[in-house]
Amino acid sequence: MKVIKKVSELRKIAFKHLINKDEIGLVPTMGALHEGHVSLISKSVKNDDVTIVSIFVNPAQFAPGEDYLKYPRPLEKDLSICRKNHVDYVFVPSAAEMFPDGHKTFVEVKSLQDILCGAFRKNHFRGVATVVAKLFNISFACRAYLGMKDFQQLRIIEKMSKELNFRTKITPCPIVREKNGLALSSRNSYLTAEEKKSAAQIYQALKKAKEEFKTKSASAVLKNVRDKIASIAASKIDYAEILDYSSLLPVSENAKKAAIVVAVWIGNTRLIDNAVLSK
Ligand code: PAJ
Repeated sequence: MKVIKKVSELRKIAFKHLINKDEIGLVPTMGALHEGHVSLISKSVKNDDVTIVSIFVNPAQFAPGEDYLKYPRPLEKDLSICRKNHVDYVFVPSAAEMFPDGHKTFVEVKSLQDILCGAFRKNHFRGVATVVAKLFNISFACRAYLGMKDFQQLRIIEKMSKELNFRTKITPCPIVREKNGLALSSRNSYLTAEEKKSAAQIYQALKKAKEEFKTKSASAVLKNVRDKIASIAASKIDYAEILDYSSLLPVSENAKKAAIVVAVWIGNTRLIDNAVLSK
């Protein structure tokens, strides 16, 4: 496994693979790797000739006052996870390498970027779309693996890749959860043992919604979910919505398929989760 820090070096190596007709898979991450990330890596290792994992805590997607500085960065542990899982290249650029002084070009996916998390985290998805576009360009990936855990991010990157005519096709990957249902996240390390118990109840609310959606209207299901999450200790809801599975637009009361998406604070930690709903 080779660790690469420079954009120019990754481009050179990836271009050689491209000429060689190797299929390149990319797994973009911010590190602090867990089994959720590993599930994406394993898919790429299985499907592609070459797997590139990027580890970059992207300053462009954090607003002032968010957790950019405190975000976990256990690089040696991450590299050993990548090695163990047969990754070919790990790209770990510095912030100055990805965003040199004077960088003024940004990618925006209008509308989709402004709702849900975008309404609470200004410029977040502009930062995500920009860094992912750069990674697609640098890596010549034919496939990129993205988790359904970040449902809005997934839909934004799919739209961006399609509309900007990238060669990179998006492979959505299912959410990996702890036994108690809590979706794995690098940010779970911020939670105390007590908060983890509260956090696990978010999934219980989503599971109940999945059951109820079979027989109840979207608004009735949503009311019950909001009530249940509001009753969790130390919780504060940023949003809870039932939306169209593909477009993230509002759904009709009797929609056959939808996504329920939530963002909830447990203490000082903001968690997101979602589930697919079908009749
Ligand atoms: P990060 O939070 O590190 O997540 C990297 C990828 O892992 C994302 O596609 C995310 O959806 C996926 N992932 C995280 N937790 C998961 C879980 N429990 N199950 C399945 N997949 C999971 O998302 C980002 O980084 C960044 O925004 C990034 C796309 C790298 C751009 O900076």
